[in-house]
Amino acid sequence: MTFDPLAIRKDFPIFNRSIRDGKRLVYLDSGATSQKPKAVIQAESDFYSQHNAAAHRGAHQLAEEATEAIESARTIVANFLGGASDEIVFTKSSTEALNLLAYSIGNAPVGNRFHLKAGDEIVVSEMEHHANLIPWQELAKRTGAVLKWFEVNPDGRLDLSDISKVITSRTKVVALTHQSNVLGTINPLTELVTRTHEVGAIFILDACQSVPHMPVNVAELDIDFLAFSGHKSVGPTGVGVLWGRSNLLAELPPFLFGGSMIESVTMTDATWAPAPRKFEPGVPNMAQIVGLGAALNYLTAIGMENIHEHERQLTKYALAKLQEIPELRIVGPTDMFLRGGAVSFTLGAIHPHDLGQFLDNAGIAVRTGHHCAWPLTRKMGVASTTRASFYLYNTSEDIDALATGIKDAQKYFG
Ligand code: ALA
Repeated sequence: MTFDPLAIRKDFPIFNRSIRDGKRLVYLDSGATSQKPKAVIQAESDFYSQHNAAAHRGAHQLAEEATEAIESARTIVANFLGGASDEIVFTKSSTEALNLLAYSIGNAPVGNRFHLKAGDEIVVSEMEHHANLIPWQELAKRTGAVLKWFEVNPDGRLDLSDISKVITSRTKVVALTHQSNVLGTINPLTELVTRTHEVGAIFILDACQSVPHMPVNVAELDIDFLAFSGHKSVGPTGVGVLWGRSNLLAELPPFLFGGSMIESVTMTDATWAPAPRKFEPGVPNMAQIVGLGAALNYLTAIGMENIHEHERQLTKYALAKLQEIPELRIVGPTDMFLRGGAVSFTLGAIHPHDLGQFLDNAGIAVRTGHHCAWPLTRKMGVASTTRASFYLYNTSEDIDALATGIKDAQKYFG
């Protein structure tokens, strides 16, 4: 199939509307959230209008259909990631998935392989989104474990020169991002995962910015856990995924307790259903889960390789175009080596917030600020940046519009 972003745009109703008094919508904020194709909106609506009932509960046809809808979405997610269905835990977001992991690890009793004691080490990096940093900071505080991290070099790459000093025999958890939401850097996982397993620790991948944009296969990566969110993957808000190896999920204690996650309950005690059910108490976000299944089917039909290649072309074009602009500084890698489609930059003395508003007036949506990665922006020597992020529905015209908008802003702000 020829990759045709203009045909793809027709699948996304939002591109039929205009913005700021009739301007064409130039949406360059998919790193924050992606737009949704008709197939996803329809799947959510169909669930409510045809199958709505509490899944995994009830003895009636609708409950059966709701259960079937959710379980087939689970299989779609498993196939998408190269895992097994019972390794997929649905959460409300990737943030919740990472917190679930941190809390569950914190609940592990002495003797459990996840148990953390004072002096054990948790490893993150300076490149983490707050969602893959703060849960580990807090877990370290609760357990007495020590938080360590890989630093980021001025070129926006992880400093792996001392990998064996950062990941040591005391390390129990390594939690890293696959692709930086600010810099666009893609981290080289092989070396990191190998070292993590060498010391007997578990490797957790924050794949929020990679799963929607490139083929990601958990077996090939040899990782232990992965989190990603539905809403960045052309799916609905309100659904995230935690994937974990089945033997690890079996040993990991639950975090949230309630209905449908139990095996048996007395007035003083309870035992747990097998994973993934023990991590999914309460009636699930059913319509959103079904919508996520439709989203991943949509992406699969287009082809993750095709999407990745399209974004690579756009990013290459954007890097070239933006670097022609005087006083524009790219914050992050300026070449295409291990790089994805999030491009952050500063523009002389113009505040990113002012630039963002100026671009918005031209119909161009970008994100500005520290992008929920404050230690990283600080390390890169900037208070905030403007970020353009690309997806399957973007075109080189979008990037031309961005470049023109930036030059116009320079004229306007002097
Ligand atoms: N984490 C999202 C972003 O990077 C919201 O914009």
